[in-house]
Amino acid sequence: MNAGLSRGPAGPACEAGATAADVSIVVPCYNERANVRPMVAALSQALAGREWEVIFVDDNSPDGTIDEVRALAEQDGRVRGVLRVGRRGLSSAVIEGVLSSSARIVAVMDGDMQHDESCLGQLIDAVARDGYDIAVGSRHVAGGDNAGLASGWRTFLSDSGIRIVQMILPVRLGDPMSGFFAMRRDLFERTVPRLSGTGFKILLDVFLSAPQRPRVLEVPFVFRPRAAGESKLDVLVLLQFAAMLGDKLCRGFLPIRFIGFGLVGLIGILVNLAVLEIGRRCGTDFATGQWLGTLVAMVTNFWMNNALTYRDRRLRGMRMWLGLGLFMVICAAGAVADVGIARAIFSSDGQWGLASMAGAAIAVVWNYAVSSTLIWRV
Ligand code: GDD
Ligand code: MN
Repeated sequence: MNAGLSRGPAGPACEAGATAADVSIVVPCYNERANVRPMVAALSQALAGREWEVIFVDDNSPDGTIDEVRALAEQDGRVRGVLRVGRRGLSSAVIEGVLSSSARIVAVMDGDMQHDESCLGQLIDAVARDGYDIAVGSRHVAGGDNAGLASGWRTFLSDSGIRIVQMILPVRLGDPMSGFFAMRRDLFERTVPRLSGTGFKILLDVFLSAPQRPRVLEVPFVFRPRAAGESKLDVLVLLQFAAMLGDKLCRGFLPIRFIGFGLVGLIGILVNLAVLEIGRRCGTDFATGQWLGTLVAMVTNFWMNNALTYRDRRLRGMRMWLGLGLFMVICAAGAVADVGIARAIFSSDGQWGLASMAGAAIAVVWNYAVSSTLIWRV
């Protein structure tokens, strides 16, 4: 057993002859330039005497977070940066950071100083020394606190989310929504193929996907208020959270993007009906109203898929407009297939509802398959 996490003073991990660190701290960051230096200083102090490295995973932040990481890395071999271009997402950033590690243990923490680094040692020791698979920094066990949640509204959301999630969790856990934890890297790696990898809740994703029931320890910590920068949590992140749970409940049977695409499609039908109704009240004829409704629904569907279903590879600028054009062509072809198939089934079967649903189902699969390969290139 390697209980030697407190061997001698830590030297830079990249020196000739140096071995891999015992623990990699994976830090997802987006627009956290001002927090990088304080973070490394805090880690140096908290992990003194251990062999560690920190891996910042940055999604090409406009504030140049990665430049700050690289400037520090030149002076300190324990600092590494992973730069992702054209991608977004806390969970997927963590996954890639962990996969780039060679350490036996990985720890994950936010890059905005809200997680208390002085608890890291306890989290790491629980896994390295005491045989736990995962150790979770928890705001919801005795001694922990959620002080850093900026508003009562966020506290309410967070508490309700936790209550729902606890109903489907395989283990008892006070704070399954935490983003602060340490775990065995090999277990994480075996979990990766089953992860949804979407949204903010990587730890929850790990618990719902792990191939075996993990041995877990919760360590209380106080969630600090943010000192610099701002939170990236927004409504779309909440929707992604719902999609992640949906994916888990479907046990990965349907791809998560297909579920998102289908839900967006349902909203599109409502948009279409709403526009048709407005048209009717304004006195347009049915065909014009239906044309308008279809157009508006296509544009809103494209926008929602771009912002939500394919948020991690969102198109912007010129590529977005080209994508919209292509999306309309694909959907139009889907509509032709829809009507064609529905008519064929209707003529042999005679049932309106069945024929119509079969046509629509084929169109959704077509739209999804073609747009995900041609527009968002999954
Ligand atoms: N690479 C990358 N890409 N990093 C991201 C992204 C992204 O798209 N979005 C957010 N991050 C980084 C932030 O820069 C920060 O370091 C960390 O992920 C957390 O993001 P915040 O926006 O500060 O989240 P929060 O404070 O609302 O919530 C966090 O803390 C909770 C309490 O522990 C999250 O980590 C939650 O998962 C966690 O439960
Ligand atoms: Mn934060």
